[in-house]
Amino acid sequence: MLPTFLRFPFAFAGLITLISLLPIPALAARYPSYGTLRTTKSGGVLNVVINNTYSTINLFDMHVQSDLANLVETLQANDTDVRVVVFSSANKEFFIGHIDVEYFLPGYESVLPLYDTGFPDMLFPVALLWNITQLPQATIAVIEGRTRGIGNEFLMSCDMRFASTSPSVLISQLETSLGVNPGAGGGMYLARLIGRGLAFEYVLSSADVDARTAARVGWVNAAFGTPRELHAHVRALAARIAMFPAAGIIATKTGINAATRLSREEIVNAAQNVIAALLPTPPVQGAFRRFIHVTRNQSIGKMELDYGAEVGRLFE
Ligand SMILES: *[C@@H]1O[C@H](CO)[C@@H](O)[C@H](O)[C@H]1NC(C)=O
Ligand SMILES: *[C@@H]1O[C@H](CO)[C@@H](O)[C@H](O)[C@H]1NC(C)=O
Ligand SMILES: *[C@@H]1O[C@H](CO)[C@@H](O)[C@H](O)[C@H]1NC(C)=O
Ligand SMILES: *[C@@H]1O[C@H](CO)[C@@H](O)[C@H](O)[C@H]1NC(C)=O
Repeated sequence: MLPTFLRFPFAFAGLITLISLLPIPALAARYPSYGTLRTTKSGGVLNVVINNTYSTINLFDMHVQSDLANLVETLQANDTDVRVVVFSSANKEFFIGHIDVEYFLPGYESVLPLYDTGFPDMLFPVALLWNITQLPQATIAVIEGRTRGIGNEFLMSCDMRFASTSPSVLISQLETSLGVNPGAGGGMYLARLIGRGLAFEYVLSSADVDARTAARVGWVNAAFGTPRELHAHVRALAARIAMFPAAGIIATKTGINAATRLSREEIVNAAQNVIAALLPTPPVQGAFRRFIHVTRNQSIGKMELDYGAEVGRLFE
């Protein structure tokens, strides 16, 4: 029998489709709002601070996903008033910890549908990240903490990434250590960004990569010695791009996406459906349970802070 997570949400998907057809006020959010994103607008720049108050590690859980999906829907409406979106985190230890691994275990209940309503062949978080890649705004991630798994896939879905050289910045695509693959295409994006050999090295080893290394190989655009320099650089870059016509930003993104992004079908077939087949298997279910145990239920502690060095504890 399929685990719960592969069974129940179809009912939810139906419900949400129905709700979206009802006459709702234009500004009503499609998904529940949890206040995990603080947004402020400055000229044509929207600053979005990820502040998951339900988690000590800025977990990419249903709260953040729900709030991000509502934000994406607003931005997709070609709100030409916003030309650049800058994502940063309130938690200086974690930009985005990783996905909420409970998501993959039986009994997990989410307010979100399992599969996206717009792209029914894509799991909800996969569709969410895909949508971010083609927002009509330029997107920039400002990294001041650890970012692993889907956190790195979120970085890959942004147009540009800048980091601080703080020791809190550790970037990793850690899925291989849990017996799976980056299901939203993180390995595929990374291979295009830093090359085949380095992508294999970092993704197969599930290593933590520091900001200087990430900048040297092109994983992030640049790394800055102080948060002040980091924010000053991004502020100036965002303000500059935001002066330009929205049409130019959209047109340029179309071309760079065509040259550097895998197709939706390739991501679905070679990343998402590969992990989906592995998830219900006993070794993977066991690995996720072990992960939740050693991370003390995905909370801040030695394992989450230093996963790259501590990963062997999964196999003790
Ligand atoms: C926004 O612009 C893009 C590119 O021009 C277009 O494909 C899309 O349909 C537009 N979306 C809306 C909601 O108008
Ligand atoms: C994050 O949210 C908490 C709770 O609402 C709040 O106290 C804190 O100031 C927020 N942090 C930032 C940087 O917005
Ligand atoms: C993704 O975008 C499509 C429209 O292109 C929309 O129907 C769908 O709801 C979006 N999904 C998420 C999770 O943002
Ligand atoms: C982990 O924590 C969440 C809330 O933070 C809770 O809902 C869940 O039951 C906990 N899981 C375990 C295995 O303790």
